[in-house]
Amino acid sequence: MSNLARRPARKAVIPVAGMGTRFLPATKAVPKELLPVVDRPALQYIVEEAARAGLGEVLMVTGRNKAAIEDFFDRVPELEAALEKKGDADRIAAVHESTEVAQVHFVRQGEARGLGHAVLQAAAFVGDEPFAVLLGDDLIDARDLLLEEMLAVQAEHGGSVIALLDVGMENIDKYGAVAIREDVQEGVVTVTGLVEKPPVEEAPSSLAIIGRYVLAPEVFDVLRETAPGRGGEIQLTDALATLVERGEPVHGVVFGGRRYDTGDKLDYLKAVIRLASERDDLGPALRGWLRDFVTELPAEGASSS
Ligand code: G1P
Repeated sequence: MSNLARRPARKAVIPVAGMGTRFLPATKAVPKELLPVVDRPALQYIVEEAARAGLGEVLMVTGRNKAAIEDFFDRVPELEAALEKKGDADRIAAVHESTEVAQVHFVRQGEARGLGHAVLQAAAFVGDEPFAVLLGDDLIDARDLLLEEMLAVQAEHGGSVIALLDVGMENIDKYGAVAIREDVQEGVVTVTGLVEKPPVEEAPSSLAIIGRYVLAPEVFDVLRETAPGRGGEIQLTDALATLVERGEPVHGVVFGGRRYDTGDKLDYLKAVIRLASERDDLGPALRGWLRDFVTELPAEGASSS
């Protein structure tokens, strides 16, 4: 490992080039990353998570039809002037939130050739130091300091660190699955193998990769040589498997907190309701309404008429 790789991670990469087909027709004209979770785009939570963990330099890997994301992280002087004229300080602050939280940069992926290919577009931005990758569909509750813990594990052990969640064998074929050795400490494991979206009967465990990675810069060289894998795409999971085969350290932090898959409609709804019900401004009214609503709900299987 080079001395530079011993530096703490400072930069975050957020791939946002996905087409968002699960949310059509909403995502026909609006990038899925900008769908609101309560009143802020899902992506804003992700950028705030990175900034909170000390990663103030953020690169978004975008694609076609994602111009609205660049607009969102840019200033809007006309809007600010109009709000200032009205003396609306709260809304001015809300508008500033997205532009002040981090230094956001953009690069285009060109062709959608998979997550590994998207991460490879960050090579020049990242240089020769460890960096984080945050996937926009996985929302980690702000009270659970997963990324901070991963960065600490990376600083201690070097190499790469991935976030793991036990999703149960019945769901493992939707994720990257890992084989592990429990030889580090409570909640931190050594990853001994990885496979992208295996058939359930071939999965090494029910531990899935969720969308947080802290990666050694060596991953770029591996990605350049990684052939298309599952789905004909260049898979980040396959590059990590190569690092493991070469004896490079890859650790897993097993997450026990609150995570929402905002790429899944049901989980997205749950995230909106849960986060809104916990907010000071909306929570009291929403919780009251929810209690009444739930008592009036017909039992499952009963006719709704
Ligand atoms: C990607 C990764 C997969 C990981 C998942 C987490 O898959 O390829 O290994 O488990 O994110 O959300 P995607 O959901 O983009 O198909």
